[in-house]
Parts: sequence; C-alpha cells; structure tokens
Amino acid sequence: MPNAYISGTGFYVPDEVVTNEDLAIRYGIDTTDEWIQKRTGIEARRFAPEGVGAADLAVPAVEMAVECAGLSKTDIGLIVLATLSPEHCFPGSGVYLQTKLGLTDDDVGHFVGCLDVRDQCSGFLYGLATAASMVQTGSIDNIVVVGTEVHSAALDLSTRGRSVATLFGDGAGAVIVSATNEDRGVRSWHLGADGRYADALSQKVWDTRKRPFIPRNEEGVGQVTPDDMWAHMEGRLVFKHAVERMIGALMKEFQKQSLTLDDVDLFFFHQANLRINQYVAKQLGLPEEKVFHNIERYGNTTAATIPIMLAEAEREGRLQRGMKIAAVAFGSGFTWGAAIIDW
Ligand code: UT7
Repeated sequence: MPNAYISGTGFYVPDEVVTNEDLAIRYGIDTTDEWIQKRTGIEARRFAPEGVGAADLAVPAVEMAVECAGLSKTDIGLIVLATLSPEHCFPGSGVYLQTKLGLTDDDVGHFVGCLDVRDQCSGFLYGLATAASMVQTGSIDNIVVVGTEVHSAALDLSTRGRSVATLFGDGAGAVIVSATNEDRGVRSWHLGADGRYADALSQKVWDTRKRPFIPRNEEGVGQVTPDDMWAHMEGRLVFKHAVERMIGALMKEFQKQSLTLDDVDLFFFHQANLRINQYVAKQLGLPEEKVFHNIERYGNTTAATIPIMLAEAEREGRLQRGMKIAAVAFGSGFTWGAAIIDW
C-alpha cells in the first residue's frame, strides 16, 4: 500500500488589502484597529473583487501546487474542494474549478471527479483525510485538495455585523496529495463533530424546511431578513469549544502515534483568533517558534487557512522535507480535525 504525501503546495490571495482602519473609515463600521487587534490578532485581510468566486481564487492556488509538485494539471485524478462560500447553492464549486483549470477540454478528455466538502473551517482537514485515504488504497495517484473562500460577498459590513464581519477574509490554498513508496506522508488523522452546536455558527440564508425555501412577498419576490442573510456566531461559546476540541484532537493523534509534543517540528492551527491559538499553545507548553501563524495578514480564511499556511511556510523555508508537522482546525458544525504529517 502506498503512502500519501503532500507533493506540492500553492496559495493565492486577492490583491486588495483591507486594514482594520479601512473597515472603520471606508465601510463606516463602529470598530477600531485596537479592538480587532487586541481581541483577535487580525491587522488586515484580503477582499476579492466583485465577479470573482471561490473557484476563481482556487485556480492560481492549484496551478502553483501542481507546478510545485512537478506535475501537470492532467495528472490530477480527483478534485476535492472545501468551501463555505461556494458560488451557488448548487452545483458545488469543484466543477467550476475543473472547467477553469481547462480539464474539460474534449481533446484532453480528463473528466476527473469533483468532490465538494462542507465542513467549514475544518473542511481542508476533512478533504485531506479523504484524499490521503483514497491515495493509500492505490487506486489514485494524485488528488488536489483545495480550500477556497470568498467571504467578503456575504459579510454584513456594517456596525450590526461587526462581531463577524471584522474576522473573515478571502483566499485559497491547495495541496497535491500523491502516492509514494517512500516512508513519509500523512501518518494519521482525526475528524470530529458535535451537531448539537450547529446553530451556534451558521448562515441560514435559505431553508428547505420553509415553503418555498426563501419566503416571497406579494409580488413573488424572495425576501431574506438580515438575521437569515448574514452569518450568526455565538463568539464566546465557539471560542471555548475551539480551545477544548483543538487540544483534544491533537492529544488523540499524539496518543495514536505514540508521539510527544517535542517530536513535532511545526504546528499549524486554524487561524480564527490569535488568542485561541496562544491559549492552546500555552496549555500544551509549545514554544512560540513552533507555531506558524498568518492571521494578522489574512484574518480567518476558513477552509483556505491551513493550506495557505502550508504553502507560505514552505516558501519561507520554515517547512522543510523531513519535518514532522501537526495541523488542527475547529469550526462551524461544530466540526474539528487534526492530522500528523511527515513532510
Ligand atoms: O472560524 C470559526 C471559529 N470561530 C472562532 O473560533 C471565533 C471564536 N470567538 C472569538 O474569537 C471571539 O469571541 C470574538 C473575537 C468573535 C469576539 O471577542 P469577545 O472578546 O468574545 O467579544 P464579545 O463578542 O463578547 O463582545 C464584547 C463587546 C460587545 O459589546 P458589549 O455588548 O460588551 O457592549 C460587542 O458588541 O465587543 C463588541 N464588539 C465589537 N466592538 C468593536 C464585537 N465586535 C466588535 C468589533 N469592534 N469588531
């Protein structure tokens, strides 16, 4: 049985940098750079322009990952795409990405499967676990796993929405999961969820329990109230569970692999709040230099966060062949996941 390793990484963030001050001045939100930095560690985030969707951001990230792996796009055997901000209700963003990558040309004849993952901030790790397991069966050699988000389209960029809108940013990250006979790769993973808290971090813009799924006014025009239109988050509850679950998921993996924290060279925590990660690191007794972060520049990019970090860390030379790394995420659902990888 082959091992499944990460043969290439890539990322893309849109050009527009939106600072905390921009949110206050340009968007008129009653907030301050001091509040956002002190509570979350975020200094800026990126916003994609109108007309750009999740699949658009994914294209350059995937192309970078494919090149990094020394492959060509036609070597991809499956697309696994994680997002909470797809272009549409359906179909998923995976098929748009496939078309934009040029993999639907009859001459190429490469109509690979497209699997969309809906596990929000944990989506990349759910996708990675799925891809690694498939590669390990020997039935597929190269799978692209991409996390991509266009949050800026669905943020209530007003004072009413400030407790959510100031946290999120746009971006995409991708990895290629490939088969190898070398002694390296994804060693173990853990996935978890607690659906009792599904409503605590949710966006219920449509509801198929209603008839019709979006209420209509007398003219037949669909109407969504602000409460349904924008994401809702019980911040403190999410914070508390994030800390507990991230530590729990990591400890499970360490036990499974008979590892100690010292065996791991670099940790990649989901970037929702620098304070969450500092708390987790402190509880585990991790030195600062072993914990990668980029929340200050991008905010929370949900499913894109971990693959963006992997791609950046590799390009900065902090993530190198032979290292053992741990990645862990927590988010809406609640869902969480962790993975141990020999790079
Ligand atoms: O990726 C998915 C996982 N998400 C997370 O893990 C997020 C977890 N939660 C958090 O990171 C934090 O709970 C937040 C950063 C979201 C909020 O921080 P907090 O310290 O829990 O603040 P809070 O929600 O309790 O709000 C404190 C005050 C409130 O004012 P009052 O009611 O005390 O007068 C808020 O209205 O801060 C106010 N506030 C703001 N003020 C200025 C909330 N957002 C803002 C803002 N700027 N952006």
